Amino acid sequence: MKSIILTKPGLENELTYIEMPMPHAGQGEVVVKVKAFSINPVDIKTRKGGAMYKRIQDDGPAILGWDIAGVVSSVGEGVTAFKVGDRVFGLVNFPGHGRAYAEYVAAPASHLALQPKNIGFEAAAASTLAALTAYQVLKKYVKSGDTVLIQAAAGGVGHFAVQIAKILGAKTLGVASGKNEAFLKTLSLDTFIDYTKKDFTTEIDEVNFALDSQGGDVLLNSIKKVKSGGSVIAIATTMTPEIKDLASKRNVSVDFQLVESNGEDMQQIALWLESGQIKPHIDKVYGFHEIESAHQHILSGHTRGKVVVQTPTAGNIAL
Ligand SMILES: NC(=O)c1ccc[n+]([C@@H]2O[C@H](COP(=O)([O-])OP(=O)(O)OC[C@H]3O[C@@H](n4cnc5c(N)ncnc54)[C@H](OP(=O)(O)O)[C@@H]3O)[C@@H](O)[C@H]2O)c1
Repeated sequence: MKSIILTKPGLENELTYIEMPMPHAGQGEVVVKVKAFSINPVDIKTRKGGAMYKRIQDDGPAILGWDIAGVVSSVGEGVTAFKVGDRVFGLVNFPGHGRAYAEYVAAPASHLALQPKNIGFEAAAASTLAALTAYQVLKKYVKSGDTVLIQAAAGGVGHFAVQIAKILGAKTLGVASGKNEAFLKTLSLDTFIDYTKKDFTTEIDEVNFALDSQGGDVLLNSIKKVKSGGSVIAIATTMTPEIKDLASKRNVSVDFQLVESNGEDMQQIALWLESGQIKPHIDKVYGFHEIESAHQHILSGHTRGKVVVQTPTAGNIAL
């Protein structure tokens, strides 16, 4: 099967196309013929030697990627939830070695859900790590009636967070640059703040919860806008004494949260996709041989929604 391995940490040109043996479906696993996978900032961080690199470097050839959508091509022992031919999607082995940049991926069945019939493989692949991150954070901290501040509201995680916070009954305040205002309004964002023109700290009242994906001063300023007793989750930076001190002085809880593979959570995402309550936005779909461009797209820091890559068999539904 065709696969893209990371020969060593570094630039995009360390991503190398090779033929690999077919994966085997172990106990509790299925093999998925991947039609599309999506790219996340963690792919780029790992490619450079950070993030998940230490976890994957000694585990066979390093293959990046965690977000897949495709068709089950074989089923391992103990799997009852899926059968050959099912269309599935999910976040595979995160944190760990997902090996999504390939034509076939062995995935724990417990990390997957059936793909909703009303969406294609690209949309399904887009609705995995980023959607799960938003869901796993918000379901823990947000209740109906809350006001929620979402940094990078137009990005991969952010655009799902806007939609899921709304489903949970929250009022949403989203920060992005002006070119994303109309887009975010289509997602029913309540209040838009253009960070290139305005300081969000002077634009909004205190909120119950803030989701930060920027770190640095943006995180510190987000903490300053959360009510006493409220919470902040940072997804792009670990906690420092400065962050903890500020939060403690304001009686605000602050923590880092890492997304985890979870088939049950994927099923909830699938239900919302099916009902049309959440819609992934795909900024661009790249071909399998355009992986370097797909990485550079994310590196721009200004992706709207998601970047997706089709595998060579994307148009071929047959197994
Ligand atoms: N802890 C976890 O489990 C977890 C999970 C997922 C992601 N993450 C991390 O969270 C971060 C975001 O991930 P992502 O997938 O959402 O990234 P992304 O899609 O690449 O984010 C791009 C977005 O960031 C916005 N942006 C850039 N600078 C901004 C600023 N100063 N203020 C507000 N928005 C700004 C851009 O909006 P404009 O174009 O309008 O500027 C763009 O829409 C990454 O560092 C990623 O590694 C962590």
